[in-house]
Amino acid sequence: MTRPLTIALSKGRILEQTLPLFAQAGIEPETDPDSSRRLILPTNRPDVRFVIVRAADVPTYVQYGGADIGVAGKDVLLEHGGEGLYEPVDLGIAACRLMLAGPAGGGGGPVGRARVATKYIRITHDWFAAQGRQVEIIKLYGSMELAPLVGLADWIVDLVDTGNTLRANGLEPYETIADITSRLIVNKAAMKTRNAEVRGMIDAIGEAVAAPTE
Ligand code: ATP
Ligand code: PRP
Repeated sequence: MTRPLTIALSKGRILEQTLPLFAQAGIEPETDPDSSRRLILPTNRPDVRFVIVRAADVPTYVQYGGADIGVAGKDVLLEHGGEGLYEPVDLGIAACRLMLAGPAGGGGGPVGRARVATKYIRITHDWFAAQGRQVEIIKLYGSMELAPLVGLADWIVDLVDTGNTLRANGLEPYETIADITSRLIVNKAAMKTRNAEVRGMIDAIGEAVAAPTE
């Protein structure tokens, strides 16, 4: 028997906003992913299953074929690089912006080479390099907003939605690096070997995205 078509999702806002789209496409998990600790979730369709992974791991699972399809933020995809992946549908969910931010009012600006704290080291490196600006990049895994407050960094590169997190910490956005939404991604090999199933899923999700929400 062939493996069920495997779809990688991450818990949190992606799961919350993606499940309604899959439900519209007729696919629903058999157990509630929020309360279950299972990592493989069968669905009402025997030929389709979900797997639950960390948000930043979704492209890796899909790239190497651990999953055929996935849902990932554009931020995560840009940082990953997109090797081995197609990105056929913009789901329009989890919209935010990847921004350069720092102390409100500029904070006097850095003396010498700026230090930038971020979990997006590849995007940050490429963005500054494209402008010929030399910065030192410090890798963090979360709570980037703290870094300028304690002198770890001059600036941060992080996601901004309402701006509340920046404001609450005396910071402000300076420049937009990328507009972010979540995307449906597909393993390039699966697109060939399981074309009918993968195409069917892309079309169904595309229709769910286009359908008016009540
Ligand atoms: P983990 O919890 O595994 O560390 P994470 O914190 O990156 O992962 P989420 O916070 O669920 O996971 O974010 C998943 C995706 O949602 C991000 O990659 C981004 O595309 C989007 N996102 C993150 N923060 C916001 C936000 N405040 N508003 C809208 N979208 C967001
Ligand atoms: C995200 C992001 C920012 C915040 C921005 O964090 O890393 O800290 O949202 O949103 P805002 O502009 O509306 O305040 P999230 O809430 O996902 O926390 P986490 O990354 O620590 O899970």
